[in-house]
Amino acid sequence: MFKTVILAAGQGKRMFSDTPKVLHFLAGKSLLQHVADTVATLTTESPIIVFGHQGQLVKETLPNTPATWVEQKEQLGTGHALLQTLPHIPDGQRVLVLYGDVPLINASTLKNLLNTPENSLGLITANVSQPAGLGRIVRDAQNKIIDIIEEKDTTETQRAISEINSGIYYIPKKFLSNWLPALTNNNSQKEYYLTDIIRLAVKEHIPIYAVKPSYEEEILGVNDKIQLAHLERFFQKKLAEKLMQQGTTLADPTRIDIRGSLTVGKDIFIDVNVIFEGNVILGNRCQIGANSILKNVILGDDVEIKPHSVIEGAEINQSCVIGPFARIRPGTTLAANVHVGNFAEIKNSFIGENTKIHHVSYTGDSTLGKKVNIGAGTIVCNYDGVNKYRTTIEDGAFIGSNSSLVAPVNIGAGAIIGAGSIINRDAPPHQLTLARAQQTTIEGWKRRNKEGES
Ligand code: UD1
Ligand code: CA
Repeated sequence: MFKTVILAAGQGKRMFSDTPKVLHFLAGKSLLQHVADTVATLTTESPIIVFGHQGQLVKETLPNTPATWVEQKEQLGTGHALLQTLPHIPDGQRVLVLYGDVPLINASTLKNLLNTPENSLGLITANVSQPAGLGRIVRDAQNKIIDIIEEKDTTETQRAISEINSGIYYIPKKFLSNWLPALTNNNSQKEYYLTDIIRLAVKEHIPIYAVKPSYEEEILGVNDKIQLAHLERFFQKKLAEKLMQQGTTLADPTRIDIRGSLTVGKDIFIDVNVIFEGNVILGNRCQIGANSILKNVILGDDVEIKPHSVIEGAEINQSCVIGPFARIRPGTTLAANVHVGNFAEIKNSFIGENTKIHHVSYTGDSTLGKKVNIGAGTIVCNYDGVNKYRTTIEDGAFIGSNSSLVAPVNIGAGAIIGAGSIINRDAPPHQLTLARAQQTTIEGWKRRNKEGES
């Protein structure tokens, strides 16, 4: 049995932000959520999260993460933060200590750490290319770990050490109960450093085991926006590689962003600068055009999304062709083989099979049948300023260009609406309905010239 503690009370001064550091986003998810989600793959027991800065906000942004929330009123250092949790940890258990600002730690590395022998101290360390800012691991002549020195307290020789402290540990509670109250803040930052427990462990001859991550990004912390961007790009690269391993063709693996979960079928092509958010599922042979954004979308097989399309909260069935420059908003279902063209916006609507909405139009709160044709410039007036109403357009209806359909209204099957009509009453099936001023030509009318004479 072990208890997980996530330290997340720091403000993150170097982020220069009003948002607490652990709530900054990486791949569409807060740093803290990344850590909490990884913990959830290791144990069903909820973690203890140490909060401080804007604690209420931190809690609210993790509504689906059951946790014991422990407040650290003043941020006096990582050792002081962990001390606050001891009353919440059952005696006899070991404690897995994680940092809310180290988001990419892998479950497999943590499993290795959890294999640390009993009555000893486990920690994750790594040799990194740029150790600046991190605690250095000091080893003796026998290569045994004897200390961790924070960068600000290092000597020049120690600064050259490339092995750094991840801040992730696995320690029996009984040791922490002895060591944490004994920490002092005699250091350059006047903080109670958790790292000082190493010296205490060495003094008591407690064995120390270091576990290495698979790659250094696993244990890199986010302290500023440069580090955040570095980890974001690293993570995106990994996600792109995973997609390609599954057979997806990416025009450029460095120009795709996945901020959530993306499930792919076979033979998919994704052009440059496509952003996926939330849960997206792509069927076989889908093609996603450049600069498109898909959020919480399900695409059937053989769907083509042309460039610059923005699609959210929609189910798009097989062989639909969307865009370029289409916008599909939440609550929309397109049946098979629907075509949506440029500058067409669709919201909260069902569009039947083989229907075409090709140009510059708005279809909101509507139900369209099969083989409907919506002319360019057609607007469904679904909102009267107070309430929203539905429009239905039955199978095979043809809406002439630049028509306004004032909801609630029903257009019967096979009806034709003359171009430029303003329709505010139901139109019967299979007939031409027109609602526009008659065109007249005024006999004998003469144009004025510039001087105003006729
Ligand atoms: C810490 C380690 C350093 C390690 C680095 C890895 C110490 C003294 N130093 O340094 O050896 O290389 O992490 O990323 O432990 N926190 C609290 N309460 C506090 C202070 C911090 O909860 O009073 C939390 C922060 O929210 C953060 C984590 O602890 O999630 C680490 O704190 P931070 O100040 O970023 O420590 P580092 O200087 O990065
Ligand atoms: Ca840090």
